[in-house]
Amino acid sequence: MAPFITFEGIEGSGKTTQIRLLAKHLQQQGIKVLRTREPGGCPIADQIRGILLNPANAAMIPQTELLLYAAARAQHIEEIVQPALQSGRMVLCDRFTDATLAYQGAGRGLDPALIKRLNLLTAGGCHPDLTLLLDLPVEIGLSRAIHREETQQDSSEGRFEREQLELHQRIRRAYLCMAAAEPQRIRVIDAEQTPHQVAQQVAAIIDPFLPADSEVL
Ligand code: TMP
Repeated sequence: MAPFITFEGIEGSGKTTQIRLLAKHLQQQGIKVLRTREPGGCPIADQIRGILLNPANAAMIPQTELLLYAAARAQHIEEIVQPALQSGRMVLCDRFTDATLAYQGAGRGLDPALIKRLNLLTAGGCHPDLTLLLDLPVEIGLSRAIHREETQQDSSEGRFEREQLELHQRIRRAYLCMAAAEPQRIRVIDAEQTPHQVAQQVAAIIDPFLPADSEVL
């Protein structure tokens, strides 16, 4: 199986940019890569994403939110991630099960033990080999995310960005706790730097991690 690499972080941490830069870096070395994201990544999960992130759905209760993220993941893993890994394609995924523990667990206050069981069900046996946590202060991440939303004039996905600072601070702390508990898998990257500097940190972590014999990819 090819490596499964996930990216995590609060809003505005720059995951999407870094995944794009890393995919380019790996492709230049002849490595086959699939870029994907959660929630989403396939037509059914993309429709669920539309419901989850629509600011008009502010009345959604945490339990509904958890089950929709889980449903999107189950479909995405079965349809996209597992086949890619089995065919030898390295997968770079923007968010995965850690996001559910951080957002629905620490953020919404749902039982982490229940979330872990649900994560086992939806992940279909896929465990990230490496997780890159792009970390930065909440105030900076949120101001970047809100600026992006305003400049792209896209208000269809802003449900989380609009929530209180305190919620995002709990989410950031939860991510850092998870990284402290699993330092081998979850690597913390200082995401306050320029995209180029962050990309250098990402490459420095990934390069030694790649198998010496890239034919296995
Ligand atoms: P994105 O903005 O990084 O694409 O992520 C979409 C939003 O979904 C983001 O606010 C984090 C949230 N999210 C959860 O709350 N739980 C999850 O399990 C996942 C995958 C994302």
